[in-house]
Amino acid sequence: MNSCRICAGPLDEFLDLGRQPLSDAFRLPNDTRDEFFFELRVGLCRSCTMVQLIDEVPREHMFHEDYPYHSSGSSAMREHFTGTARYLLDTELRGPDAFAVELGCNDGVMLRTISEAGVRHLGVEPSGGVARLARGKGIRVRTAFFEEETARDIAATEGRADVVYAANTLCHIPYLDSVFRGLDAVLKPTGVFVFEDPYLGDIVDRTAFDQIYDEHYYFFTARSVRDLARRHGFELVDVRRLPVHGGEVRYTLARAGQREPSPAVAELLAEERTRRLHELDTLRSFASRVETVRADLVALLERLRAEGSRVVAYGATAKSATVTNFCGIGTELIPFVCDTTPAKQGRLTPGAHIPVRESAEFAAPYPDYALLFAWNHAAEIMSNERDFRASGGKWILYVPDVHIV
Ligand code: SAM
Ligand code: TMP
Ligand code: ZN
Repeated sequence: MNSCRICAGPLDEFLDLGRQPLSDAFRLPNDTRDEFFFELRVGLCRSCTMVQLIDEVPREHMFHEDYPYHSSGSSAMREHFTGTARYLLDTELRGPDAFAVELGCNDGVMLRTISEAGVRHLGVEPSGGVARLARGKGIRVRTAFFEEETARDIAATEGRADVVYAANTLCHIPYLDSVFRGLDAVLKPTGVFVFEDPYLGDIVDRTAFDQIYDEHYYFFTARSVRDLARRHGFELVDVRRLPVHGGEVRYTLARAGQREPSPAVAELLAEERTRRLHELDTLRSFASRVETVRADLVALLERLRAEGSRVVAYGATAKSATVTNFCGIGTELIPFVCDTTPAKQGRLTPGAHIPVRESAEFAAPYPDYALLFAWNHAAEIMSNERDFRASGGKWILYVPDVHIV
């Protein structure tokens, strides 16, 4: 029996997405080195309800000098993080000599606004390439993994923080015991930890199984976060649902007894209970819908190929590694995928080895169909590429089910 990374309780496996590569390891075409693969399986802890991967990929394989994900690549996400920074400036960072720490600040998409406001800040970012991009924007960044030792060093050299913030980063960190000891060391007694990550409730609602990949180790809920916080002397004092990245929740933790929890916490906990989000049968029925999406998507792509239609993909997302490798979709069905990220262009997608091309090639000439891997950016991409639809092109989506628009 596998055991929970949080509480050592028994894990019930409910989904096996098979042998998968590192989701962000885009390969050069002439690279002949062996690719790293692992088993992508997901389990539910019977004791603390945390949903998590069963196998852990060493962190240095994922987060390094060449980590290719650039947070500023989407205008909608730039706006989201400008709004987040303003919210933190207006709430937690109003005091004199306020200090903000961000885990996984990436290219500085959020800290930029904090820095421009003249507020003391520090990003902690292990991936050297993106950390340099943030420094180029005048942001202070330490190239390190956040864990107990890093946090103690920050507290000793910079003082304690009013807020520690993390977006799409905490769920990437298996070793949360060390992270919480670090939070305890680096936060002021009244300080808060604010983090946002994909919400299990939305993943299940939308059958968004592509949110599951090596980097996404935990799939949080109000219930599992409340229990996690309690283990470490913290309390869940606020939750807020966010529309970004296909549905997220922003959680606020304070030291136990420091803040009155908002009514939103009890409401989300009650909703999760009513919908039986932490019951194994709910998660098993999600897993069976995943099988249906796989069968429908492969059947559609094979039919379009048989009819002689040209289909390409849009958005070489980390998520799409799960889709292509789980469904067995390769260049015979999708000859290339367009993406605006320079660090991905000219390379091959992990495992499936589909070439990544510049988005300019999308229009040269337009395909009949485009499979939208970056479905979480659908509004932005469909608006930028409105000429594709005007020319008769159609988008293929597979969330919440396989459909054509
Ligand atoms: N916060 C940005 C956003 O929401 O767009 C970046 C998210 S990116 C998916 C995850 C980031 O977390 C990467 O830049 C990665 O290098 C960083 N990361 C991974 N482990 C970390 C750790 N232990 N401490 C701090 N950052 C970490
Ligand atoms: P994400 O879903 O993990 O944020 O990744 C989105 C990917 O899609 C990233 O590689 C950038 C790419 N992308 C485009 O190619 N065009 C766009 O307009 C947007 C918003 C993203
Ligand atoms: Zn557990």
